[in-house]
Amino acid sequence: MSLLTVDREKCIGCGICAEVCPKNYIEITKEGIPADAGLACITCGHCVAICPQAALDHAHAPLKGQVLLDKTPVLNAETAESFLRARRSIRVYKEEAVPKSKILKMLDIARLAPTGNNTQGVQYLVIDNKDTLQTITQATVAWMDEAITQGEPLAAYFTDLVEYYHKTGRDVILRNAPCFILALTEKSFTRGRDNTHFSLAYAELFAPSLALGTCWAGLVEACARSGYQPLLKVLDIPEELMVTGGIMVGYPKYSYKRLVDRSPLTVTWR
Ligand SMILES: Cc1cc2nc3c(=O)[nH]c(=O)nc-3n(C[C@H](O)[C@H](O)[C@H](O)COP(=O)(O)O)c2cc1C
Repeated sequence: MSLLTVDREKCIGCGICAEVCPKNYIEITKEGIPADAGLACITCGHCVAICPQAALDHAHAPLKGQVLLDKTPVLNAETAESFLRARRSIRVYKEEAVPKSKILKMLDIARLAPTGNNTQGVQYLVIDNKDTLQTITQATVAWMDEAITQGEPLAAYFTDLVEYYHKTGRDVILRNAPCFILALTEKSFTRGRDNTHFSLAYAELFAPSLALGTCWAGLVEACARSGYQPLLKVLDIPEELMVTGGIMVGYPKYSYKRLVDRSPLTVTWR
C-alpha cells in the first residue's frame, strides 16, 4: 500500500520531495508525479515538509500534523556561539522543585533530536523523590567503592570522588539536584546510546530557556550498565529496557560570568 497521497491539482512536479528523501523512497513518475519506489521509508517527514505546494501527504508523517514554517529560524552567528558556549554542566542547584510541566516540555524537545535512521526509541524515567535520589547516589558510590576494592581500571578516577563523599557526605553523584532524568531504550536496540546522546543534548540545550540547568550523570549510567543490582533494584526498570544515559535537572544556584575555552581545534583537510 502506498504511503503517499499526491494532490495532482497542486503538484507541480518539481521533484524536490524525491531529491530530499534520505532513502530514495520516492520516484517521480513519467507524468511528473511523486510515487513510492517501494524501498524502505523511515518516516522522517522530509518529503511532506519540503513541498512548496502542500501537495504531498504521507500516511505516517501527515501534512496536518506539520507546523507551517514561513522561514527557517536562524540565530545570528554571534548569538548562536554565545548560546552554545554558555551551556555549562550545573552541579549546584537551588532546592526548588522543578514543575512536571517544565520537565515534560524539555523532554518533548529532546524527542525531536536527530536519531540514526530516524529510529528514535528513547523513553524517560523521571525521578524527583528526594529519598530515591539519595538512594541512587548511595548505590552508585557503593558500586564505586567495590570497583576500588577490586582494583578495576576505572577505580583510579573514582578514588578522589568517593573519598570526598565519605569525608563530607556531599552528593558527588547527583549533586543534590531536585530531579534526575534517566534515558531508557530497549536492550536489543543497538542505536540506543547514540540516540540518547543526541536527545539529551537537545534537552540540555533547551533547559536554559526554562531557567533550568542540567548535568550528565555518567557515573550513574556506568553503574546501571554494569548491571549493579542494588542500583537496578532502586530504578526498577522493566526487564526489556536498559539505561542509556541520564541528566540531573534543577534551577542553577549560580550563574557563570565568563565563557571558557577548550583544547585547541584539531582539523585536517585533504
Ligand atoms: C557522557 C557524559 C558523562 C558525564 N558524566 C558526568 C558525571 O557523572 N558527573 C559530572 O559531574 N559531570 C559529568 N559530565 C559533565 C562533564 O564533566 C562536562 O561536560 C565537562 O567537564 C565540560 O564542562 P561543561 O559541560 O560545563 O562545559 C558528563 C558529560 C558527558 C558528556
